[in-house]
Amino acid sequence: MIDPKKLAERFPGDFVFGVATASFQIEGATKEDGRKPSIWDAFSNMPGRVYQRHNGDVACDHYHRWEQDLDLIKEMGVSAYRFSIAWPRVIPEGTGRVNEKGLDFYDKLLDGLKARGIKAFATLYHWDLPLVLMGDGGWTARSTADAFHRYAKIVMARLGDRLDAVATFNEPWCSVWLSHLYGVHAPGERNMDAALHALHYTNLAHGLGIDAIRQVAPQVPAGLVINAHAVIPASDSDADKAAVERAFQFHNGVFFDPVFNGAYPDQFMDALGGRMPAIEDGDMEVIGQSLDWWGLNYYTPMRVAADPVPDAEFPATAGAPPVSKVKTDIGWEVYAPALKSLVTELYDRYDLPACYITENGACYNMGPQNGEVDDQPRLDYYAEHLGVVADLIREGFPMRGYFAWSLMDNFEWAEGYRMRFGLVYVDYETQERIVKKSGKWYSALASQFPKGN
Ligand code: NOJ
Repeated sequence: MIDPKKLAERFPGDFVFGVATASFQIEGATKEDGRKPSIWDAFSNMPGRVYQRHNGDVACDHYHRWEQDLDLIKEMGVSAYRFSIAWPRVIPEGTGRVNEKGLDFYDKLLDGLKARGIKAFATLYHWDLPLVLMGDGGWTARSTADAFHRYAKIVMARLGDRLDAVATFNEPWCSVWLSHLYGVHAPGERNMDAALHALHYTNLAHGLGIDAIRQVAPQVPAGLVINAHAVIPASDSDADKAAVERAFQFHNGVFFDPVFNGAYPDQFMDALGGRMPAIEDGDMEVIGQSLDWWGLNYYTPMRVAADPVPDAEFPATAGAPPVSKVKTDIGWEVYAPALKSLVTELYDRYDLPACYITENGACYNMGPQNGEVDDQPRLDYYAEHLGVVADLIREGFPMRGYFAWSLMDNFEWAEGYRMRFGLVYVDYETQERIVKKSGKWYSALASQFPKGN
């Protein structure tokens, strides 16, 4: 087993070790204190969308147990907490009336973090769009980007004084492609034209969000969290290599290029540009504002081959088999070298600011035996991937922090509660929390930072 003390020597003293969660996945209390439904409340109550129609009504009951959860983070010796703010708590109808009680919750949470000396990394949008906004088309409507702009201003005005960092969006790939093209996440659409609208309006909303942060709380480092895909060709053939470039543009470029290069990628535009919504004057400038940091969520590589179907729609790629035989319980290939090649490629292609690994972790579903959870494979996953982060630091990449996904088991979207990513086990019957073996190991590492304290 990798000794956490030895591993700690490979990180600079001010490196941030944190844990991450998201509002809908942990809070529960979906009908309390003025919160109104989000698209995930509606989606999870439709048949056939989420495993066994699990929903977010109770989740980890964090809305009521937040103090105990913050104590746990503190006891684990972790110095930062990444969480998200629920738009339907703050502005229940998406536009219009502000719900002070919704803001009060995050106000208390931030005071609680400050009191415990834990840094606060907030995400403004981790997928719980107020349901009412679907009436106008949700993310396929430009008006949703404007609504997000106002929401961001309201949140930053009330909470900005206690945030150590803020991200506009978490994983736009999921809220765009997975939600509007592949139909797996809310609202469950399978429509390229809708997805292309969601793409541009999400990027625009990100830019407007940055604008809101700069206007209202310019002292807070502002960023964006992307689940960039480590796209790897199935073979050395020219066809597979060309497929990789198309896949890169479709899965990564459509988010990175507008933000860091001021334009959508060329092959993507040649194929699909005619179906994009109108890009209005000034949109690309709003989207391309400079960021203080960016976040990378990495779990598994994406292996691709050229699509054998003639005239398949862009990006015309097919999945390819894993190389590593090791898979987590959700079926994702474990392959840490791809984290290194991905970061290297992204810094090669783009002029990127400092990076936080805002999510990394593994799904293993083992539960307690005699009060202990022995999740050695998760521990191994963390040790291996953190080793890669240390390698990247040694090579000079500006890696500033790492957040384990997740603090605790929680609502894993379409998989419901059956897939567990926590360092802490949650018994959903009793809401008991049990720190897993991986959690103890991570705590032994994280508690040494910041060094010299
Ligand atoms: C990415 C998402 O941000 C998070 O919500 C999700 O639970 C994890 N990955 C695991 O799938």
